[in-house]
Amino acid sequence: MKETAKVFDQLIRERRSVRIYDPEAEFDHDAVQRSLERAVLAPNSSNMQLWEFYRIRSEEAKKSVAWMCMNQKAAKTAHELVVIVARRDLWKKRQKALVQEMKRVYPDTQSKQAKRAMNYYQNLIPKYYWSDWFDIWGLIKKGIYFFVGLKRPMVRHGNRTDIKISVHKSAALAAQNFMMSMKAEGYDTCPMEGMDSLRIKRYLKLPSKAEVVMVIGCGPAAEEGIYSDRFRVPNKEVIFEV
Ligand SMILES: Cc1cc2nc3c(=O)[nH]c(=O)nc-3n(C[C@H](O)[C@H](O)[C@H](O)COP(=O)(O)O)c2cc1C
Repeated sequence: MKETAKVFDQLIRERRSVRIYDPEAEFDHDAVQRSLERAVLAPNSSNMQLWEFYRIRSEEAKKSVAWMCMNQKAAKTAHELVVIVARRDLWKKRQKALVQEMKRVYPDTQSKQAKRAMNYYQNLIPKYYWSDWFDIWGLIKKGIYFFVGLKRPMVRHGNRTDIKISVHKSAALAAQNFMMSMKAEGYDTCPMEGMDSLRIKRYLKLPSKAEVVMVIGCGPAAEEGIYSDRFRVPNKEVIFEV
């Protein structure tokens, strides 16, 4: 095994969801910033980066958000909380940025790659992310995918729920990058979906289409911070070779 794999393996095995943090131990808040800057390097669908990360640092803000996390100890004792937000609604802004980036990457606008990239971001992306009030377009897309899919492999996700899932998937990958980076920085974390996402959304003054993916408590673990030994079902029940 390569040295990098050994280090990574150790980090993976040492990361646990920590529910109680040590109030006395030192905490370098810059580690959160560095880890968020690593979080945004996560793979994400079409590189649309439809995510946002809110750092909850002040005592007052932490108290409010911990309350919205049902006063879980993992939130109440955290030195900092990070709210991961899915921003499906920002697709037009991101699309613009990506079109600009494609122009930079492919200055020869007539090249095959430039045309393909432009077609992807200017034509396909709006068809994927745009949706009407009743999501009729989503239903139409599902219908088209079904009929095309009878003859050849076809993507199947097209309605609003599918798109939401896609945006949450990418945000969750960023969350995992963040938690692993915090572990590498010597700190612990606990992802939480046991929270009042509506209240948190209001507290952060987010628009209605934004969605809170999870809140992550961060800090140095207290001795009693891990509740039990790690349990996983046997690998053979979940890992298959075809
Ligand atoms: C999406 C998600 C939501 C979670 N929500 C909570 C939560 O609200 N409260 C909590 O204490 N742990 C929460 N957890 C932590 C899991 O309980 C924990 O990851 C699992 O028990 C495995 O333990 P480990 O992380 O120590 O390996 C959550 C984990 C994930 C991935």
